[in-house]
Amino acid sequence: MTLSMLNIPSYTIAEPAMKTRRIGIPLTDELGAYIDRWGYKETPAMVQCREYTSTIARSLMQLSPEQAALLQILAQIMGARNILEIGTFTGYSTMAMAMVLPEGGKITTLDISEDYVNAARTFWKAGGVEDRIDTMIGDANASLDSLIAQGKAGTFDLAFIDADKNDGIDHFNKCLQLVRSGGLIVVDDTLAFGRVATGPQEGDHPAIVDMARDGHPENMHIHGCDGIDMVLLHFSNGMTLARKR
Ligand SMILES: C[S@@+](CC[C@H](N)C(=O)[O-])C[C@H]1O[C@@H](n2cnc3c(N)ncnc32)[C@H](O)[C@@H]1O
Repeated sequence: MTLSMLNIPSYTIAEPAMKTRRIGIPLTDELGAYIDRWGYKETPAMVQCREYTSTIARSLMQLSPEQAALLQILAQIMGARNILEIGTFTGYSTMAMAMVLPEGGKITTLDISEDYVNAARTFWKAGGVEDRIDTMIGDANASLDSLIAQGKAGTFDLAFIDADKNDGIDHFNKCLQLVRSGGLIVVDDTLAFGRVATGPQEGDHPAIVDMARDGHPENMHIHGCDGIDMVLLHFSNGMTLARKR
């Protein structure tokens, strides 16, 4: 059987010498304020969650509101009823996706820190979405294995990966098993503050060094994966969308 019989195009990989022209605009404070005014919509509970998170260490781990709005739109377009999230933190992205679930829909969110998840519950309650959220506390690889062992492979419409970048390839492979055909995997931080292209620089935060090491092998893994369509978006800190065929 040939690729053309399967209706899957054979792609040309752009040679490094072939320079693609792109428009990029610097994200100034003024532009950030403009996006804050006109770029997304938030409920009071979402604002409460962001305000709380801005006061704690590692607040930068939180998704931006426009990223959360994109996840909501993707989930709605797909009619997602069953969502998987890796990396709960204080619950902002979980709440955003839970809000757009249809009646009876569920989001299962995984995190290693019980403290973060406990903080998240306050905001989920305030937002009226706590009944739509199942939590799994522990190392994400073990939780994903447990979901696979429970027979949940192929049952999730959408998976959002936003946890430990060192385990990114394992998380992606396990999510690929867990999402259905036609399902979507969204991976955050895939441009690692631009360091994927340059490698870590002196003085970088250890988290950025981890993310950017060896050009972020997770990106190369996703790009080389059979059976998916993918795009790495130059959006926020880089967001990759991968659709399972
Ligand atoms: C970037 S934050 C998630 C942000 C969240 N999606 C949001 O929008 O607020 C990453 C989270 O992954 C969790 N994490 C890190 N390593 C993990 C692991 N090995 N297993 C499960 N969770 C992990 C951290 O505790 C942290 O809460």
